[in-house]
Amino acid sequence: METPCGARGQCRKCLVRVLGEAPEPTPADLEQLTPAELAQGFRLSCQLRVDRDLEVAVVPAVTLDPRKARLGALAGPAEVDPWAPLNPTGRSLGFALDVGTTGIAGALLDLRTGEELAVHASLNPQAVYGADLMTRLSHAIQGEEQKGELTRLVRDAAQALLGRLLGKAGARPEEVTAASLVGNTAMHHLFLGLPVEQLAVAPYTPAVTEGRVFEVPGFPALYALPVIAGFVGADTVAAALAAGLDAGEETVLLVDVGTNGEVLLRHAGRLYACSAPAGPAFEGGEISQGMRAGPGAIEAVRFDGRDLVVTVIPGGPRSTAGGGGGSGTEAARGICGSGLLDAAAALLEAGLMDETGRLTHAGPAAHRLAEGGRAVALAPGVQLTQKDLRSLQLAKGAIRSGIEVLLRVAGIGPARLDKVLLAGAFGNYLRRESAVATGLLPPVDPGRIQPIGNAAIAGAKLALLSRSARDRAEALARGARFVELATHPDFEEVFMEALNFPRVRPGA
Ligand code: FES
Repeated sequence: METPCGARGQCRKCLVRVLGEAPEPTPADLEQLTPAELAQGFRLSCQLRVDRDLEVAVVPAVTLDPRKARLGALAGPAEVDPWAPLNPTGRSLGFALDVGTTGIAGALLDLRTGEELAVHASLNPQAVYGADLMTRLSHAIQGEEQKGELTRLVRDAAQALLGRLLGKAGARPEEVTAASLVGNTAMHHLFLGLPVEQLAVAPYTPAVTEGRVFEVPGFPALYALPVIAGFVGADTVAAALAAGLDAGEETVLLVDVGTNGEVLLRHAGRLYACSAPAGPAFEGGEISQGMRAGPGAIEAVRFDGRDLVVTVIPGGPRSTAGGGGGSGTEAARGICGSGLLDAAAALLEAGLMDETGRLTHAGPAAHRLAEGGRAVALAPGVQLTQKDLRSLQLAKGAIRSGIEVLLRVAGIGPARLDKVLLAGAFGNYLRRESAVATGLLPPVDPGRIQPIGNAAIAGAKLALLSRSARDRAEALARGARFVELATHPDFEEVFMEALNFPRVRPGA
């Protein structure tokens, strides 16, 4: 189950329907659910005490992004230069692991040839202690027992993932002789059992920054990539490695849009890094009908000159009311991050929203306005509210401020950017034009924007296969100039500017 509020009975996102006789509602049930829902057996599963056999239906089913097929698309042909002892006879395999706050991803590689034998992804079971990093950390710092539980959960999930990979590849556990680990700093520390108390308070100091081999019970020799700062972790270093940010003459911006966005800028041989706390809006959090990209999520919205046209991820329930565009047969249940960004771009283009983010009664699509002008109807039963648009503004404003501050520190403008790389699953699916139209990204030619998939696991694979890739990762992390956004003198001014949407030129 997803438990964004940390199982506190406050978010309604963990609903189940008890089939048969439902237990008495809890106080949180009474507060969160309507009498009709209660009568139909709906309960908050985080509050539900299982005192006998119960049969429940999960609403909605928890899914990883079904579109996450491109695991580490950047990897390409990798150099093979093993750093761990190989089996003298038979195969020697390696396990590359990327522990994310939401999901964990793994790949099984042949350490002699670099061949990828299997990939798999699953949810991070720590999510039961909160969807976002800070909720998770605040649980961990309650005590050794709580922290130990988070470590155990993620290690068990990694073991299970490795088991799946071995099964897929027809391999045996004793054939696996090395592993590599990437993840944001908190996940990296929790996996390794390192102290995390200091990550929860400014200045968010990591316990360990350098890359090194750890002994982790149940795993082979495990090389954890270095981290740069409390919120610029080994996953970002791995992405920089996979994207080759340590070489070449080009000026490159790398952005990982997530709850904790990371921004890297390489210019004139230097690497600048910052983290931009975007919050959960891009993952559907804090958006009234937000959801992760899954069946029934509106994933794209455009304005065709007369009206808004939406596209829904298939696989959900079929609509009986006709769609709000698209195929008209997939019923929309909510909206995911890429749909949200598209919707904002489409509202600007349609004149339904001004550059301050305020909904306005104008243009041919004005009939879409609902709730007295405080919401826009995207599809039957799915609305985007003024408050949702404010959350989006905060999220995109945070990422854009990170980009602007790094450009200022490097002393250049956006016109100098040769390439903008978008890492992470979200980067694969957002429309580049919408990223520029909403001001999430600076005004660059969309042709220079390139999604690079899960670059973190691609970097983990490189570091697993080669000693020199490990050295490069360490040099990247050591040489990076970390910029703390919150204390940068220009931050407030930049952030206020970044909140606004770019003005749409009439007829543009
Ligand atoms: S209400 Fe938030 S997890 Fe149950």
